Amino acid sequence: MTRHIQLTEQGKLKHFLTIEGLDKELLTEILDTAESFAGMSEHQVKKVPLLRGKTIVNLFFENSTRTRTTFELAATRLSADVLSMNIATSATSKGESLLDTIHNLEAMHVDMFVVRHALSGAAHFIAQHTAPHISVINAGDGQHAHPTQAMLDMFTIRQHKKQFVGLKVAIVGDILHSRVARSQILALNTLGVSEVRVIAPKTLLPAQVKTMGVIPMHDMDEGLDDVDVVIMLRLQKERMNSAFLPSESEFFRCFGLTEAKLKRAKADAIVMHPGPINRGVEIASSVADGPQSVILQQVSNGVAVRMAIMSMAMHSQGGVA
Ligand code: CP
Repeated sequence: MTRHIQLTEQGKLKHFLTIEGLDKELLTEILDTAESFAGMSEHQVKKVPLLRGKTIVNLFFENSTRTRTTFELAATRLSADVLSMNIATSATSKGESLLDTIHNLEAMHVDMFVVRHALSGAAHFIAQHTAPHISVINAGDGQHAHPTQAMLDMFTIRQHKKQFVGLKVAIVGDILHSRVARSQILALNTLGVSEVRVIAPKTLLPAQVKTMGVIPMHDMDEGLDDVDVVIMLRLQKERMNSAFLPSESEFFRCFGLTEAKLKRAKADAIVMHPGPINRGVEIASSVADGPQSVILQQVSNGVAVRMAIMSMAMHSQGGVA
């Protein structure tokens, strides 16, 4: 059902809501398209006219630093007109429903919504109810999905490791509440890595973890052994409704990434984190700022990958300049 709504009849990207149902060819096309945009930040003129005349509305009902700004920058570099709604000062605070907000913005002849929302399924809901010419991009919905984050992570992995086949990847921390982990796991498996390990205390793993195509582990030394990529996640306290841990210091002792623990991974392993990072909770500063960290490269890559996704979605509508 999700594949049906995300793709045109020709199999092109129309909305980008989840990695689920997308095949290796499409994910690779996104990465290859992003590659063509990646060098642009070095150019004197950082713009291409691909989305000239198009209007993109950023609707962030949840806070964001990286995703919102890189989407804004990506749209600007594609020459689109961008509106970033301030939800706190919008009519949402007067009780306007999500659908009424969407229909009012539609009346202004916009072409794309980039949506972040605390409710899982919000972007999918908007895609189902919006006008047929409008594309919807999911910028993170509840615990469900953060597909553009997963794709910029895949781009960063490919940049460093060249191919996915044969890689062992460990995702560490609060898997239970992480939309990023869910999207990364789908993308990694679709792109053909050898092994995805998830390392976490039992309280921070989903009940259905065994059906997710991962190897669940509870010990960092064992879990990091010989891996090529380590992805750290923060504790998502905003989604915790009870106590999942004895304390942050105990979590750091058992699951925090330190230089000593990182030695278990391959010598050329890369360390990733979607951000925001919590130093001394899930990652030591010496690792976050260390030679194996690619955390800020992930942020840079977010612009090119979001340019790729937005331009592909608009092209499939056949209405680009
Ligand atoms: N990685 C990520 O989604 O960060 P923001 O919440 O700052 O957008």
